[in-house]
Amino acid sequence: MKNEQNIEQNKQPIEWSKLGFEYTKTDYRFSATWEDGKWSDGDLLTSEYITLHEGSPSLHYAQQCFEGLKAQTAADGRILLFRPELNAERMRNTSLRLSMPVVPTELFLHGVHEAVRANQSWVPPYGSGASLYIRPLLIGVGSNMGLRPAKQYEFRVMVCPVGPYYKSGGLSVISLAVSDFDRAAPHGTGDVKAGANYPGGFYATSKAKELGANEALYLDAAEHRYIEEAGSANVVISLAGNKLITPKSDAILPSITRRSLMDIARHELGMQTEERPIDLRKEIGTFEEVGACGTAAVLSPVGKIWFDNEWHKFYANGEKVGPVMQSLYDTLCQIQKGERADRFGWTQQVKV
Ligand SMILES: Cc1ncc(COP(=O)(O)O)c(C=O)c1O
Repeated sequence: MKNEQNIEQNKQPIEWSKLGFEYTKTDYRFSATWEDGKWSDGDLLTSEYITLHEGSPSLHYAQQCFEGLKAQTAADGRILLFRPELNAERMRNTSLRLSMPVVPTELFLHGVHEAVRANQSWVPPYGSGASLYIRPLLIGVGSNMGLRPAKQYEFRVMVCPVGPYYKSGGLSVISLAVSDFDRAAPHGTGDVKAGANYPGGFYATSKAKELGANEALYLDAAEHRYIEEAGSANVVISLAGNKLITPKSDAILPSITRRSLMDIARHELGMQTEERPIDLRKEIGTFEEVGACGTAAVLSPVGKIWFDNEWHKFYANGEKVGPVMQSLYDTLCQIQKGERADRFGWTQQVKV
């Protein structure tokens, strides 16, 4: 139900700096539905619940996908989104792969802007270290039994204020453990953001945690040789000679953060960049600094990786943030918060 007059302008009474990466109910979510080949205009809703038919293909066959992006308050008070059109494009690719209707870019962006605008009191203030996480999702709904795509869909955008993804918070060093499990098969769905890619990783992550790591690191499923990505983040690696490399693979999620960091490295920091297969066993001894990157993780320096029954440590014995990851992180965050000239045109203002 839209109620623009009542949309709260003042900030919520929250201790923003204490937020973790958890769900908080906010006032509004955007929802649009698809049926008979057409999208509805969409509207703001107040209830956080969705009533689903028990035959919904999202429940049985995981015909579901999602996105993740953030809104942040800039120093001058503007609310900024970071490259939301790339999330629209990625959801489009995912939808086509999962035989779901494409959410047109205008509808995707309208939903994101509306959800943020309506919940502006929940957008953490500048300097709080928190941000508004935006979670668009597309689900197949309606009665269905046979193994076929849904006839009806809901596109929903929910938002909630969040703090750092890793419990240690801020820019602190994390660790990864190479998993015996595979995340995605070649020519499977690893390169799209299908919800079904994730639950298999819960167990892999719990095994990584038993080893004292924050997350699992996956190798390619065919040879268990090349680095793919972490459970919820891509990987970037700095090498001697001012180089930044990142794995080339058709089975990893094309991270918007990674793409941006590679551009920052090349164009702002003057580094040589390369996307190529990275043979972990052969190359791990040459890694200077490693980072896990994504909307949630931002850029988390990886101090050590568990592989072949031992910890392999990087910069400062895995105990400190290295200069390359620090510069990449600082530059990215400055652009996202409007503290640095946005020479790439990456930020988009939400009109409130
Ligand atoms: C598996 C996986 N890889 C990488 C990423 C990072 O992608 P992005 O930078 O677009 O958030 C995410 C998070 O969205 C993810 O879930």
